[in-house]
Amino acid sequence: MQPPSLVLILAAGEGTRMRSDTAKVLHPVLGRPMLGHVINAAAGLEPSVIAVVTGSGREQVESWLASTWPQALTTVQQERRGTGHAVRVALQDLVSRGVELGSEVVVLTGDTPLLTTKTLEDLLAAHREQSAAATVLTAVLPDATGYGRIIRDSSDAVESIVEHKDATQAQREIREINSGMYVFAPDALIKALAELTTNNAQGEEYLTDVLAIERSWGLRVAAHAAEIAEEIAGVNDREQLADAAAALRNRINRAWMREGVTIVDPATTWIESDVVLARDVTLEPSTYLRGRTAIAEGAVIGPDTTLVDCTVDECAHVLRSHATEAHIGPNATVGPFSFLRPGTELHEKAKVGAYVEIKNAIVGRGSKVPHLSYVGDAEIGVDTNIGAATIFVNYDGVKKHRTVIGDSVRIGSDSMLVAPVTVGDGAYTAAGSVITDDVPPGAMAVARARQRNILGWVKMKRAGSTSDIAATKALNNPTSETEKQ
Ligand code: UD1
Ligand code: CA
Repeated sequence: MQPPSLVLILAAGEGTRMRSDTAKVLHPVLGRPMLGHVINAAAGLEPSVIAVVTGSGREQVESWLASTWPQALTTVQQERRGTGHAVRVALQDLVSRGVELGSEVVVLTGDTPLLTTKTLEDLLAAHREQSAAATVLTAVLPDATGYGRIIRDSSDAVESIVEHKDATQAQREIREINSGMYVFAPDALIKALAELTTNNAQGEEYLTDVLAIERSWGLRVAAHAAEIAEEIAGVNDREQLADAAAALRNRINRAWMREGVTIVDPATTWIESDVVLARDVTLEPSTYLRGRTAIAEGAVIGPDTTLVDCTVDECAHVLRSHATEAHIGPNATVGPFSFLRPGTELHEKAKVGAYVEIKNAIVGRGSKVPHLSYVGDAEIGVDTNIGAATIFVNYDGVKKHRTVIGDSVRIGSDSMLVAPVTVGDGAYTAAGSVITDDVPPGAMAVARARQRNILGWVKMKRAGSTSDIAATKALNNPTSETEKQ
């Protein structure tokens, strides 16, 4: 499809009903600001220029755009004097900066996170088919309260748009509403904007009046009804924000189910837009997949799992865990209750069990960190076992240091591996050791005090205590377990 020259997104409004310090259009829906969803839909049209009109919350919006959509232009509406005023000053500014308006300007609002490129393509196609000067995207809603109503003449042609506050009782019965999205021929638009008045209930320059003005000049004014009314829903408060998030969640989940992903409980499964899933992935309840997470065939994620920017390979299994920027290899297993931080690399069939935290570390093929451990800044070879409650002591208070563990190593439970340190292939460490020196291949490192038993200590120091009574009983009873040893 031939791209339009300019998409202009209105985002200067106050967003009062959000009751927030965050600019309205920056409130996220499934991890992405509403404005981001609108820009994404607009970008699908491949326009030469996307420009955002900022005003209220301007610094926040501009700084988000600079980091995420640096190609987008911004233009400031200093005073909020209505949607028509916003478009008027924006076009003046953009033209003075050399932006070509070409033959079509698309106007959108920044608070419609469910909008899709497909709907905009349909709108553009309708505009072109009818050779209109202006085409408005409409929808028929069961409850049209608050929206501008589409007024049609006896031949069903669009006559004007009347704002709810300006509408008569009869006009308020109309359920076809203005989405606030349009395609305009720029020359007529600029001329009509110059004619706008503020003679209305809100004392604002209404963009919607452009349609009636152009019609009075004998120009063709058209309407295109959105196939899916949900898409044009604007978000003005936090209830609508949650509704929009649920609708987007639903849409994304359904699309993945059609691609062959099993989603056991769609109501509690959240998949952000940039996530990629293969067929036969299973998502258990309460799973949240965020950012650029990618999951390969046969993997099972959840329940109760959040993955942020993770790569999960074939048939891996992640149970009740949280991971960020981790790579989970084929057939690897994680959880329950583990935490994988950036730089975690689990190779094929690696196992990370319960209550394990890993950061910036490679766990080699078939190696296991089954219980209650911290592994940081480390490299673990293949088929190695890290005993329960092992800590990789990587930080001396100033710098982080690396630990290197070879293949087929057995680290005893409750070992402290004080980095920098290397444990050679096939070596062992004794449980409870504090390993400060390198361990050669095949060696057993023991680094703990010897045990000594002070016989009769309880009788001397705790005479008459329950311990003393139990001990005395055991010592006098030759069949007791302790006595036999
Ligand atoms: C507008 C339409 C209404 C339509 C509805 C759809 C007008 C007069 N009315 O009404 O027909 O049904 O959208 O949601 O256009 N904005 C600015 N600068 C301003 C005023 C608004 O940038 O001076 C921006 C807002 O940030 C928002 C958009 O324009 O993104 C719409 O403004 P809003 O005040 O929400 O208009 P509505 O009363 O909802
Ligand atoms: Ca609105």
